[in-house]
Amino acid sequence: MSLPPLAIYIHWPFCRSKCPYCDFNSHVRERIDEGGWTRALVADLDHQAALAPERQVVSIFFGGGTPSLMPPETVAALIGRVKAHWPVAPGLEVTLEANPNSAEAERFAAFAEAGVNRLSLGVQSLDPAALKFLGRAHGRDEALAAIALARAHFRRYSFDLIYTRPGQSLGSWREELDEALALAGSHLSLYQLTIESGTQFATRAARGEIDMPDDDLAAQFFEATQDRLAAAGFPAYEISNHARPGAECRHNLAYWRYEDYLGIGPGAHGRVTTAEGRVATRHRRAPEAWLAAPVLETTPISPETALEEMLMMGQRLAEGVPRGRIEAMAGRDVEALFGPALPRLVEGGFLTLDEERLSATSEGRQRLNSVLAALLAEITSPAS
Ligand SMILES: C[S@@+](CC[C@H](N)C(=O)[O-])C[C@H]1O[C@@H](n2cnc3c(N)ncnc32)[C@H](O)[C@@H]1O
Ligand code: SF4
Repeated sequence: MSLPPLAIYIHWPFCRSKCPYCDFNSHVRERIDEGGWTRALVADLDHQAALAPERQVVSIFFGGGTPSLMPPETVAALIGRVKAHWPVAPGLEVTLEANPNSAEAERFAAFAEAGVNRLSLGVQSLDPAALKFLGRAHGRDEALAAIALARAHFRRYSFDLIYTRPGQSLGSWREELDEALALAGSHLSLYQLTIESGTQFATRAARGEIDMPDDDLAAQFFEATQDRLAAAGFPAYEISNHARPGAECRHNLAYWRYEDYLGIGPGAHGRVTTAEGRVATRHRRAPEAWLAAPVLETTPISPETALEEMLMMGQRLAEGVPRGRIEAMAGRDVEALFGPALPRLVEGGFLTLDEERLSATSEGRQRLNSVLAALLAEITSPAS
């Protein structure tokens, strides 16, 4: 059996400031022991290399937090270490998430020199008032300058925007999108603002200080975004991700296609095929606790969990999930597996099924949690 390709995620958990909407594993610290962090991340990589030997690495992704705060030497050391452990694919994708603050943009050339070949910039908005509302540490001019530098140093770059913001009008979002399209390379990530529990926005929303658009308006924002991006040649390949055909993020595709990936660093998780079957790996989240004891928790994945996870990840993608893969995993055909839920969801316009694939429609992707709940309920109670 040929072993599946491998993607590698490396987490840098530090940020300049904590954004009020963000529930990622990101923390503000006055001092960071950069040498200690480099050694710990390299050691984690060495340890996990033993879990997944003899693979070809297709992607490395530095995520965060704010990996553009990493010393470029640390980035270079980690890329070098990956190459020492595994052969890499000819088109190896090496992505780094960057914030557009000018101090970090000055390092873009050094990151490119270190081996990064794709930059993902957290622009979040091109509107100064929205950047302020989102509590960002950069302004519009810094964002524009960082995009120009990204274009100068990286053949592939993407940037993130957050929309469906309180008080935002559809018209102003369309204008912002058009400006974004004029600045874009071949990939854009467009996220609808969500209020995550435990964040400052959650507290403010509970006090009635943040008035989020209702579901109908949110749906209109989503549709307008899908239509505009598709018309501009950037179809959605995932709920929030748009690319020119062929420019999709290889790394994120590995997650959504439920392929193998290692998670290096605090809070990072992985899915790895081993000689004993597929396992889930997990690291503790708190940076200092991880640094003191970077113990990797490894749990076997049952066939039922694997099927559920594959569907949950795969239905985010426009391409959906190969029918043959679902049937091989479940040991029965999809009609028997999903029972009456399947024709109901297909007739309702939320799913499509053909010889090759089961895919969510744009409507379905917009309400993915309910669509998946309906499908998965059938799996756990199969008709006798
Ligand atoms: C790991 S984060 C960030 C990368 C980088 N630290 C930054 O902020 O520029 C990935 C992206 O998730 C999006 N995001 C984070 N929290 C969100 C929320 N509550 N609602 C919508 N999008 C969110 C932002 O667009 C962000 O750029
Ligand atoms: S959005 Fe990015 S910069 Fe802001 S706290 Fe989260 S990870 Fe850090």
